[in-house]
Amino acid sequence: MKNWKPEQEQEQEPCDIEVRQVGEGETEELMAFLLVHYYREEPLTAGTSPPEPEAADKEFLLSNVPSGTCFMALQGGRIVAAVVAGPKDAHEPEHVAEEARKHAGGKWGRILHLLSAVESATDVCRRFNVPSSVHVHALGVDPQMRGRNLGARLMEAVAQRARDLGHLLVSVDCTSVYSARLVQRLGYQLVNTLRYVDHLDASGEQVIRPPPPHESVQTFVLHL
Ligand SMILES: CC(C)(COP(=O)(O)OP(=O)(O)OC[C@H]1O[C@@H](n2cnc3c(N)ncnc32)[C@H](O)[C@@H]1OP(=O)(O)O)[C@@H](O)C(=O)NCCC(=O)NCCS
Repeated sequence: MKNWKPEQEQEQEPCDIEVRQVGEGETEELMAFLLVHYYREEPLTAGTSPPEPEAADKEFLLSNVPSGTCFMALQGGRIVAAVVAGPKDAHEPEHVAEEARKHAGGKWGRILHLLSAVESATDVCRRFNVPSSVHVHALGVDPQMRGRNLGARLMEAVAQRARDLGHLLVSVDCTSVYSARLVQRLGYQLVNTLRYVDHLDASGEQVIRPPPPHESVQTFVLHL
């Protein structure tokens, strides 16, 4: 049968993609996807050595699955995109600071050092006077499938789920220029920008050195 849609349009938003919640029994498949299509390129991971994420980092991401706020896009049963998100409350700045102290000295500790500074500066629950926010911790799309709206579809699935659960806010620290552009298109509000060159450790060394074109971590929120 002849398809009436212009070829370019079919290419941009494939219709054979299923977006659904990640089940508690699917953490292994989710992590296998994230290791290849998220961690290798994500600027905080790429900007600290060694290249591989620490076990505590991976455990943290997977600990969000039971909250029902993680989603994946599948094509023919194969994961092609995934988002990891979970709820946080007004105690998050203290919580992340404590985690950063606990993991100090390693790769995950350096990443938490930056995320703790971002949490303190943004403090979204107190800033917007809401009891909780669903925070997006990771978003990855298979490079073969980029530019086809999959990141946006996953972010929309998180927002819908957050709304259904009664949260008033979705927040995200965009460590990549690509994710920052994506959420801006979705109507997110910019709350804070921290340039990587400005985030130094106690001895004045830059903590994270991501490859270009990534220059800053930008925090955005969506009011539900
Ligand atoms: C962030 C990410 C999910 C965005 O993917 P996406 O949803 O497909 O992005 P968009 O639809 O907004 O893409 C817009 C354009 O930028 C391009 N693009 C997106 N991410 C890109 C990347 N990492 N490198 C180069 N180009 C990229 C797309 O191909 C598209 O190009 P086109 O307009 O020529 O088709 C993706 O870059 C990714 O998985 N990055 C690795 C992990 C990461 O850094 N996550 C974000 C941390 S907060």
